[in-house]
Amino acid sequence: MTAPVPPPLAAELRRLQANSHAPYSGCRVSAAVEGGSGEIHYGVNVENAAYPQGACAETSAIGAAVTHGETSIRRVWVASSLPGFIWPCGGCRQRIWEFAAPGCEVVSVAADGAVESRAIEDLLPLGFRLPAPGRA
Ligand code: THU
Repeated sequence: MTAPVPPPLAAELRRLQANSHAPYSGCRVSAAVEGGSGEIHYGVNVENAAYPQGACAETSAIGAAVTHGETSIRRVWVASSLPGFIWPCGGCRQRIWEFAAPGCEVVSVAADGAVESRAIEDLLPLGFRLPAPGRA
């Protein structure tokens, strides 16, 4: 059962899509990350003329969260200018996995307000984790 998206968060996701830099794909994406502190951090996709150098919205949002001191992620929301639901790419699934708190879920928010969610373990079964300590 997917929890409803807080209306201010849904509105912010829509508003931030205008800041997405997506001149190559035309697909504007915004993402929000709820850190372990409970604070929400946002990001948009930032494409580049050297295509592989682009960053997904989830990557930007995770960067903002870590920059603000978060060490875990409780939930991720993602929304795009495409019709229907979108889901994080493989690389972003691994980036979420790196910080995922127990029960972490990804919520896709469609333009019409419909939502669907998946546990990160369902999006990335058998994700890669280094044995402890594993982090600098
Ligand atoms: N994209 C995201 O930012 N997040 C996703 O979950 C899927 C895809 C971006 C990458 C690229 O800028 C554009 O959407 C699709 O080519």
